[in-house]
Amino acid sequence: METSVPLVLMKDIVKRFPGVVANAGITFEARAGEVHALLGENGAGKTTLMNILYGIYQPDEGEIYIRGHRVTIHSPRDALRLGIGMVHQHFMLVHPHTVAENVILGLDDVPFHHPTRVVREKLAEFSERYGLRVDPDAYIWQLSAGEQQRVEIIKALYRGAEVLILDEPTTMLTPQEARELFATMRRMAEEGRTVIFITHKLEEVMEVSDRVTVLRRGKVVGTLNTRDTNERELARLMVGREVIFHLEKKPVTPGREVLRVENVSALNDKGVPALRNVSLTVREGEILGIAGVAGNGQRELVEAITGLRMVTEGHVFIDGVEVTNKSAREALLRGVAHVPEERMHMGMVPNMSIAENLILKGYDRAPFSRGLFLDRQAILSHANRIIREFQIAAPSPWTPAKLLSGGNIQRVILGRELSLNPRLLVASHPTYGLDVGATEYIRRLLLEQREQGMAILLVSEDLEEIFALSDRIAVMFGGRIMGILDAKEATVETVGAMMAGLTTVAEAA
Ligand SMILES: Nc1ncnc2c1ncn2[C@@H]1O[C@H](COP(=O)(O)OP(=O)(O)OP(=O)(O)O)[C@@H](O)[C@H]1O
Ligand SMILES: [Mg+2]
Repeated sequence: METSVPLVLMKDIVKRFPGVVANAGITFEARAGEVHALLGENGAGKTTLMNILYGIYQPDEGEIYIRGHRVTIHSPRDALRLGIGMVHQHFMLVHPHTVAENVILGLDDVPFHHPTRVVREKLAEFSERYGLRVDPDAYIWQLSAGEQQRVEIIKALYRGAEVLILDEPTTMLTPQEARELFATMRRMAEEGRTVIFITHKLEEVMEVSDRVTVLRRGKVVGTLNTRDTNERELARLMVGREVIFHLEKKPVTPGREVLRVENVSALNDKGVPALRNVSLTVREGEILGIAGVAGNGQRELVEAITGLRMVTEGHVFIDGVEVTNKSAREALLRGVAHVPEERMHMGMVPNMSIAENLILKGYDRAPFSRGLFLDRQAILSHANRIIREFQIAAPSPWTPAKLLSGGNIQRVILGRELSLNPRLLVASHPTYGLDVGATEYIRRLLLEQREQGMAILLVSEDLEEIFALSDRIAVMFGGRIMGILDAKEATVETVGAMMAGLTTVAEAA
């Protein structure tokens, strides 16, 4: 019977990297017509397994069957020919092109006449059928991460993917967008496609998947029917222990004002006003959470504070010193640390080693630099200290940063930024893409820094995170601050309504 043969069967897959066995004999099977979640902590081997299916890596051992036929997948091109598409954790779109150009980029059979018109019709169809809305003429660099991801999905569908692998697709989406994506995924499964959905989020597994395979340290710990399991069981399988997610926010009396943003306005990359008369302050020992759906000015605000974007009006002060429209270097010297939104591109130099990335912001200063020379020994001991302190899982300090798992990349960035002893930490989506264990670790770290008197500006779309960490919550909508609330008095409903632009504080009160 056709249906009893799994669409995808990966058998006894082994993949070794220097110092790690990423996949230690994994057997994984996905059927036509199902959403199959692949769940596991950072570094469990999820991306590696799917990179093998997508032809990016060759397995050291094991076999792959598609519809019962043994195949060898040498490249993504091979994978696409077999009907396998993948949307990566770190997007791989070409920035100087438009959406339409990106969709046809690299295709063998580009429609000869009016290629973009054909693409446009196809995009309209996808938008209709799956709710994947994008402007074909927008440039990639103008799009939010969520929109870029939609383009990636469209690319895969355009190439006829019957098996669509989504690597942590919801991390940069609003709750609304995530819901839309789930509807899209269900729709694809109903059409008989297979959706393989890599995630850390237990509630998403429960919400959208038919089955779930849990990986831990390169091995399968179980494949379950979603309806027969629950979040608690999945968490235990994933982590190997009971997970207690409990953060204690100790009372801290805020000290001096560190950051003052006064009536700041700025344009976005398209030259459109993106920040409108924004004012806020953050004091020592305080976390100000910025809640809001991505694309409402948060990115521009962060950039204005960290010296990465010119403001058209208003002032930015650090410790009372004006830094308005000064450089990123000036912000750094004033003690502004930054955990950026797009950590692969902005947070790191992917081809450089962990050790080099760790000194990226201090290379021209003692102890790493002596005159013209870099002190390799000092760099190494600095790296080893941070690797230990932040529990970064890596074969060696000289491992290229791009080979690390998402959670470990974030640890490297946080390690580097915190080792500068900043006055202000600007953290954009700091737990984006991280598993429960790593999320807990990083949130705890932020609370510790707060207790030690650091001023923290936290930008997150995750309301649970905003509420768990913030002392005050500022809600952004349409480039404005809709209101700043005391976290103790704020409710999810009020903040949610403000995020949707429905009420301002005055009206809510
Ligand atoms: N190209 C590579 N070279 C060396 N090591 C690698 C490479 N790719 C992955 N690894 C290592 O293999 C292990 C599994 O990584 P992988 O990216 O598959 O994990 P993951 O489950 O996707 O984690 P995350 O949730 O953080 O994305 C990690 O220890 C990682 O550092
Ligand atoms: Mg991964």
